[in-house]
Amino acid sequence: MLYKFARAFLFAQDPEWAHDFTIDRFKKLKGSFLLSFLKQKLPARPRTVMGIEFPNPVGLAAGLDKNGECIHAWDAIGFGFVEIGTVTPRPQPGNDKPRIFRLVEHNALINRMGFNNKGVDYLVEQVKNSGFKGVLGINIGKNKDTPVEQGKDDYLICMEKVYLYASYIAVNISSPNTPGLRSLQYGEALDELLSALKEKQAELAEKHGKYVPVAVKIAPDLSDEELAQVADSLVKHKIDGVIATNTTLDREPVAGHPHAEEAGGLSGRPVTDKSTAIIAKLSGLLDGDLPIIGVGGIDSASKAQEKLNAGASLVQVYTGFIYQGPPLVKEIVSKL
Ligand SMILES: Cc1cc2nc3c(=O)[nH]c(=O)nc-3n(C[C@H](O)[C@H](O)[C@H](O)COP(=O)(O)O)c2cc1C
Repeated sequence: MLYKFARAFLFAQDPEWAHDFTIDRFKKLKGSFLLSFLKQKLPARPRTVMGIEFPNPVGLAAGLDKNGECIHAWDAIGFGFVEIGTVTPRPQPGNDKPRIFRLVEHNALINRMGFNNKGVDYLVEQVKNSGFKGVLGINIGKNKDTPVEQGKDDYLICMEKVYLYASYIAVNISSPNTPGLRSLQYGEALDELLSALKEKQAELAEKHGKYVPVAVKIAPDLSDEELAQVADSLVKHKIDGVIATNTTLDREPVAGHPHAEEAGGLSGRPVTDKSTAIIAKLSGLLDGDLPIIGVGGIDSASKAQEKLNAGASLVQVYTGFIYQGPPLVKEIVSKL
């Protein structure tokens, strides 16, 4: 009920203003009795994935809280895990505005944010100050002005800095909004990156006496052949998990909409089936070798269940949460 009013207000505003306003309000709830207004009591639906115990399988997807400023709010809402980021080594402003568009008729968004974030040091400070004891994923990427051939170094810098504070580290090589980033999903570039990440993970595990799983986030736009190659590399390098999927470049499902031709990634309902199909194929290819976190267009318990049926062990939401708010998390967790 409360979210219906909030949504009416927020959807009357520019999408990015609404986002920033919400983050700002949520930030201020830290330590305040007002945080109790966000609190939802959810049933426990525990499961263990990548060696981590999750209180329930519904997580917040990356990109909503890029700087990790509102972890207490996501915790209050009842997410079983929270993925913050994408964060880059250095702060960067992202692309020019406007860079996010609502396609309300499709329950969808198109965004070309371009990893706007305050940098990894700021994010780590937020995590340290959060006192959060739940499952925290930290999603890492590369700065726009780092040449893609040196992209690996940015991931390693971020990995080193977030390692101690993350339950798992998500490696984002699938955003369509950083030029060249998706090329890291293919062939030698992928093998080189994964091998460097595993080497760094082993070194940090030894140094800190703590093993932090690494999951790779992939695009929904991979062909069958590309997906098979990605799956091969993930298994070969003993990556701990895969997050499927990011936003799509495909515009067919929203053709004719006034915003359809905006550059960026499409998310929400139009990406649901595409991402579920990727999960199903991946599940066949991986045959249980590593777990899949399913994300893309989940806006009901039945859509979440479809992802689990296709082979996902956990799910995440972003756009569905924008459209439906905290009750969506309650609905999914209660019905799973
Ligand atoms: C505005 C916006 C910003 C996003 N930023 C990121 C990001 O920084 N890193 C990332 O891995 N995914 C990002 N995503 C992708 C989401 O995490 C998710 O994979 C995708 O939107 C599909 O899920 P959904 O249909 O539930 O939104 C972003 C999505 C949106 C809509």
